[in-house]
Amino acid sequence: MRAMVPDGTGSVTVADVPEPVPGAGEVLVQVGAFSINRGETFLLHQPAPGWRPGKDVAGTVLTGHGPVRAGDRVVAHPEQSGWAERVVVPVGQLAVLSDEVDLCTAAALPLAGLTALRLVRLIGSLPGRKILLTGASGGVGHYFVELAAAAGARVTALTSCAQRGERLHALGAERIVTHLDQAPGPFDVVIESVGGEVFQAAWQRLQPRGLFVWMGQASRRAPVFDFFDWTGGRSATVRKFLYSDNEGSDAEDLATLVRMVLDGRLHPEIGLRAPWSRTQHALAALLARQIRGNAVLEVTT
Ligand SMILES: NC(=O)c1ccc[n+]([C@@H]2O[C@H](COP(=O)([O-])OP(=O)(O)OC[C@H]3O[C@@H](n4cnc5c(N)ncnc54)[C@H](OP(=O)(O)O)[C@@H]3O)[C@@H](O)[C@H]2O)c1
Repeated sequence: MRAMVPDGTGSVTVADVPEPVPGAGEVLVQVGAFSINRGETFLLHQPAPGWRPGKDVAGTVLTGHGPVRAGDRVVAHPEQSGWAERVVVPVGQLAVLSDEVDLCTAAALPLAGLTALRLVRLIGSLPGRKILLTGASGGVGHYFVELAAAAGARVTALTSCAQRGERLHALGAERIVTHLDQAPGPFDVVIESVGGEVFQAAWQRLQPRGLFVWMGQASRRAPVFDFFDWTGGRSATVRKFLYSDNEGSDAEDLATLVRMVLDGRLHPEIGLRAPWSRTQHALAALLARQIRGNAVLEVTT
C-alpha cells in the first residue's frame, strides 16, 4: 500500500510499504482523511528508524474486533503511521462515528481535541477564570477556546495577527492580542506553547497563586526564563502538561469530542483541506504559520 514516509529533509514522500496486519485488540482501518500535527513536524526532522507519521485519522474499518465491526466509520488516534492508505489501530484508541460526521471533520479531532479537552479538565473550575493562551491560532487553540469559553472562562488569545484570531473571537475568546503588551493581565491561568521570550512575558502576567501550564515550544526556541522576574510575589503552580499522560481513555474522550461536534458544541476549524498528494505543501504551510486550526488531507486511492 502507499504511505507517507520521512524524506530525510523534514518532510515526506510517498512510498510503497508493507500492508499493516492487525494484532490482538486491533482493527484495520481504510484511511479516508488524516490531520497533521506540529509535534509530528518536529519528529520528521529526526525520524526514528521505521517510524512513519500519522496520529490523527478517520476512515472505515476493514477488519473489526469486538464491538467495532467491519464497515464502521471511525475516528482514531494510532501511535503512528496513519498518513497512509491503511493503518492498524487498537480498539481503545478510536470512536465510532455516526453518518452525520464527515471524515475530514473527524480527522481534525484527535490530538488537538484530546489536548484541549484535557487542558480544560486540568484547570478545573472555569466560570469567570481569566486565562491567557499563547500560540492560540492552531488546532489546540481553537478547541480550547471554544470549550473554555462555553464553560464561562474569559480567554485572552495571543496570535500573530488579527486575522488568525478572528475565528477564536467567534468561538468565544474575550480578547485577541498580537503582542503580550496588549494583555497586562494578571491571569488566573496561563497556557504557554510558544517558547523563547514569550514564555517569560507570559509568566510575568500570572496572578499570585496562579497556574502556569507549559505545553510546547512552537518557535523551537527554549524558554528565556527567570522565576524571580515576577511581580506576583507569593507562590504559583508551574505545571508541565503532556496530553498523553492521562488516566482516562482515548476512546472515551474521542467519543466525547464526536458527541460535542454532533451537538453543535464543538466546531473544528479546518484551515486547509486538500488531497493527500498535497501533504508536503500542508507541512510547509503549517511551519510557515499559514494554517488556522487544523490541516486535513483526504486519502484517495
Ligand atoms: N504538551 C502536549 O501534550 C501537546 C499536545 C499538543 C500540542 N502541543 C504543542 O502545543 C502547541 C499548539 O499545538 P497545535 O497543534 O495547536 O499547533 P499549531 O497548530 O502548529 O499551532 C501553533 C501556533 O503557535 C503559534 N506560534 C507562535 N510563534 C510561533 C513560531 N515562532 N513558530 C511557529 N508557530 C508559532 C502559531 O500561531 P501564530 O502564527 O498566530 O502566532 C501557531 O498557530 C504546539 O507547540 C504543540 O507542539 C503540546
